[in-house]
Amino acid sequence: MEAITFSKDTVLSDIHIRIQQKRQLMVRLNTAGQPVFQTQFKILWKKNTVEIASDKEENRIDGENKSLVSREAASHDVQELEALLDDDGDLEVQRRPPSAADRPESPDCVRDVVCPTILTIGSEENYEEEATCNTEDVVKIEHTMATPLDDVGKQIWRGAFILADYILWQQDLFRGCTVLELGAGTGFTSIIMATVAKTVFCTDVGEDLLEMCERNISLNKGLLKTAGGQVKVKELDWLKNQLCTDPDAAFCWTEDDIADLYDQTTVILAADVFYDDDLTDALFKILHRITHALTRLCTIYVSIERRFNFTLRYMDITCDAYNHFRNCLNNFEKVSNGKLKWTATEIRPVFPQFFCYEREHLEIWKITAISLI
Ligand SMILES: C[S@@+](CC[C@H](N)C(=O)[O-])C[C@H]1O[C@@H](n2cnc3c(N)ncnc32)[C@H](O)[C@@H]1O
Repeated sequence: MEAITFSKDTVLSDIHIRIQQKRQLMVRLNTAGQPVFQTQFKILWKKNTVEIASDKEENRIDGENKSLVSREAASHDVQELEALLDDDGDLEVQRRPPSAADRPESPDCVRDVVCPTILTIGSEENYEEEATCNTEDVVKIEHTMATPLDDVGKQIWRGAFILADYILWQQDLFRGCTVLELGAGTGFTSIIMATVAKTVFCTDVGEDLLEMCERNISLNKGLLKTAGGQVKVKELDWLKNQLCTDPDAAFCWTEDDIADLYDQTTVILAADVFYDDDLTDALFKILHRITHALTRLCTIYVSIERRFNFTLRYMDITCDAYNHFRNCLNNFEKVSNGKLKWTATEIRPVFPQFFCYEREHLEIWKITAISLI
């Protein structure tokens, strides 16, 4: 593959831009005729053991509440600022915690493109062959490169990495849980979640995308087998009111799946899914509907990238999709049907990185439910 061709509505995730300089190895064409690449992402936990342990310890002492920034706590910000000043008022500049991305020269920080240069059209043989050579510190992901907006799920986005980092850092929070991921794309975050959780419902729309996701689950069988978690790839369209139960449809839900989803889920994940205002509205509606139907209280973790665009409307650089997300989040906290009340807090991205990517402009929000009954 010599070069990626861009058309005017084509987007390319930063994750893939960074590896674009390398020789790209295409493993197959998908059924839509798009070239599919496979990238190997190393988990840096061995290298970071000391850093992670010390960060965890620090965090335990601080307590989780201190590491979460309440949006309402303006006074808290002032106190933090005061803490940064020395006795005579000079600003004490604090270094941000070292992260994996600070050591690009480290051999462990390299994202390798793996497997030989082969070009096949959906060969199951290669697929199985790849599935057998897993290691515990590598996540293998098939993905496309630049895509139209409708197909962005076939790329991997930085929001998936920051959520994956958080999961690996806070493994005890998720151990043995049943988790629902919305807009899972290639399935990267679901795969990481299944290294600690019991069951992950990895959901998105589009047969082509869900097939790619299923392949990625198979490619990482070894990683999941060691951990014991299972990933179930299912269709869940935010624009539809019902889960698909048609047994003839691929990725439909069985009665048992639905019962498991509603009875057992305690965590919902969504990485980089707020980029279109209509979809953001639909997603908040579905979050409202699903969470009210769950038997147990659940916590929602979402990641978002603040994307800055120049808009003719304002003749300025704006962050429209992000602002819309924040408005929806505010409204979500206000809405209650007498059963649940939600509180959103931003999780400061000061935890260690287990993957190589740039964290700039990324945020994680934790949305916690309180029962009113
Ligand atoms: C920017 S991608 C993020 C993918 C993945 N979470 C990641 O971070 O790599 C947004 C995802 O939302 C999904 N999506 C868009 N509209 C959807 C809908 N109506 N129902 C379910 N998923 C949808 C897309 O298919 C895509 O996978």
